[in-house]
Amino acid sequence: MMKLKNKTVLITGGSSGIGLALSKVLIQKGNKVIICGKSNEKLLDAKKIMPQIITYQCDLSDSQQCSDLARKITAFHPDLNVLINNAAIVNKIDFIRDENVVELAEKEYQTNLVAPIRLIKLLYHNISAQDDSAIINITTGLIFAPRVIYPFYNSSKSALHSFTQTLRIRLKDEKTKVFEVMFPAVDTPWHKGTPPKIAISAEAAVSEMIKGLEKGNTEIKVGGAKMLYILSRLAPSFALRKVNEIQ
Ligand SMILES: NC(=O)c1ccc[n+]([C@@H]2O[C@H](COP(=O)([O-])OP(=O)(O)OC[C@H]3O[C@@H](n4cnc5c(N)ncnc54)[C@H](OP(=O)(O)O)[C@@H]3O)[C@@H](O)[C@H]2O)c1
Repeated sequence: MMKLKNKTVLITGGSSGIGLALSKVLIQKGNKVIICGKSNEKLLDAKKIMPQIITYQCDLSDSQQCSDLARKITAFHPDLNVLINNAAIVNKIDFIRDENVVELAEKEYQTNLVAPIRLIKLLYHNISAQDDSAIINITTGLIFAPRVIYPFYNSSKSALHSFTQTLRIRLKDEKTKVFEVMFPAVDTPWHKGTPPKIAISAEAAVSEMIKGLEKGNTEIKVGGAKMLYILSRLAPSFALRKVNEIQ
């Protein structure tokens, strides 16, 4: 069971979409919430809605900025006990036609995979010294069946899933719990105004995530992600076809 009250929580990418909705709920529940994001404007907008939120501007794909953030968090918020690796990017790619795919791959892997690993490594010492501490990694139902238009996004999140599984085993005798939340399509700015028809609201996604955490589920498959998981186990080729037909 994971109690989400009186915690100090760092949510990467807390200035938009799911991270922003999560920040609102966690503040309402009486937690101290720290967020980071690339755009200072979005961080200021978040602060307008939630004056008590603590913000740090940081490009997590830049190793130096990511390490600087960890240093500031350790210095100014030694009570940090929950890290939520939520920030991510996605590129729609035609691997054969597009020219700059390797650069896009590097950026996606740095943001979606290396930054969470770096933050965990740099903040673990601090987090693990606190009671009731947790690391929560955000992934997607697409780790079970990848979409062809997102070749690096699927694979960066699959790698994060695999890393999360091994981290959970490594920490099984430690106080810090390791969670993963797999979201289905969620209607956020991520989809640039054209979310898939099946997308659920950020509020519904966050509410299911919190229910799962409070129950103590370590792998929380939200909404359609659960169905995709089952389908990918029972009929993998069918699941792959269906996921690539989503409009
Ligand atoms: N929306 C979906 O359909 C969906 C489905 C499954 C899983 N997810 C997962 O849910 C999480 C949140 O997605 P969302 O839909 O809420 O996306 P979103 O609205 O685009 O928000 C992404 C957040 O990440 C931050 N971010 C991105 N790159 C960053 C970087 N290099 N450094 C620091 N911050 C960075 C963004 O800040 P800036 O804009 O300032 O860079 C923003 O705050 C992601 O992990 C995503 O993979 C989403």
